[in-house]
Amino acid sequence: MNKYLEIDHVSITFPTDNGPLNVLDGVNLKLDQGEFVTLIGHSGCGKSTVLNIVAGLLQASEGGVVLEAKEVNEPGPDRAVVFQHHSLMPWLSVYDNVRLAVDQVFKKTKSKQERHQWTLHNLELVHMEHALERKPDEISGGMKQRVGIARALAMEPKVLLMDEPFGALDSLTRTHMQDSLMEIQARLKNTVIMITHDVDEAVLLSDRIIMMTNGPSAKVGEILDIDLPRPRDRLALAENPTYNHYRAEVVRFLHERHLQKGLDQNDSSNEKEQAMPRDISDNEPHEPPVRLAS
Ligand SMILES: Nc1ncnc2c1ncn2[C@@H]1O[C@H](COP(=O)(O)OP(=O)(O)OP(=O)(O)O)[C@@H](O)[C@H]1O
Ligand SMILES: [Mg+2]
Repeated sequence: MNKYLEIDHVSITFPTDNGPLNVLDGVNLKLDQGEFVTLIGHSGCGKSTVLNIVAGLLQASEGGVVLEAKEVNEPGPDRAVVFQHHSLMPWLSVYDNVRLAVDQVFKKTKSKQERHQWTLHNLELVHMEHALERKPDEISGGMKQRVGIARALAMEPKVLLMDEPFGALDSLTRTHMQDSLMEIQARLKNTVIMITHDVDEAVLLSDRIIMMTNGPSAKVGEILDIDLPRPRDRLALAENPTYNHYRAEVVRFLHERHLQKGLDQNDSSNEKEQAMPRDISDNEPHEPPVRLAS
């Protein structure tokens, strides 16, 4: 049976000055509707590239993405993206940045007054109602990120793609946004793929954590099912042995990959390998991802 969202044997190779660079090699991931997964892995392994392919902003060299049995070839309002670096229109106010997206998605289904209320509601959700008329260059980086999140949520997308959405936020705002996101996702049942470098954030929010191998030719390394009841309470979880077990598993994975990265960097033959043109028709079977027992 088809899954709701399928990332099916996705590989991508970019041309570079040193020859083709194979960034992803057969990334396979299937999501149920309403599932919340996080992608975790070392910097440069290809996490944003995966997200951009699901968003339809990049085309896979091999394989593809299927959402509700339909192949994804271009961006669409069914997949909203919160980028790693905010992407607000600099000439529009905070309100207008969100309103533009609301108008695009709900022009036919909501009245003008409803679209106004919906825009305000989503900006209130991220506590930005005090700065409606300000332009992006008149607000802080964290505020810009919050407006980007409001814009994505306001589109009520089937799939919410978030690239380190809380990375630029102070820890109090970050905590608040994580709680809001859990609450919103429980209500709207969005399917979410989120990239994070924060192990606690990954365990707190996820149904599954997808741990990617180091690049180049990154793939899914291990998958950790997070079997913790919802709603989740961060304070209660801090004392929870299962939570701490999951946390330790992710830290272990990252630490092992970090050591691996060090070994790779010491191995000069590997540098040649990275720069070498790679036969992308290579059909060697890949190692299946390891599923950790919870
Ligand atoms: N358009 C492109 N052309 C060439 N190389 C690219 C392109 N886009 C990404 N890359 C390379 O692909 C690799 C993966 O990049 P990506 O941005 O997906 O990593 P990431 O895992 O999101 O890293 P980070 O955690 O630092 O955000 C990097 O080596 C990057 O330089
Ligand atoms: Mg990235």
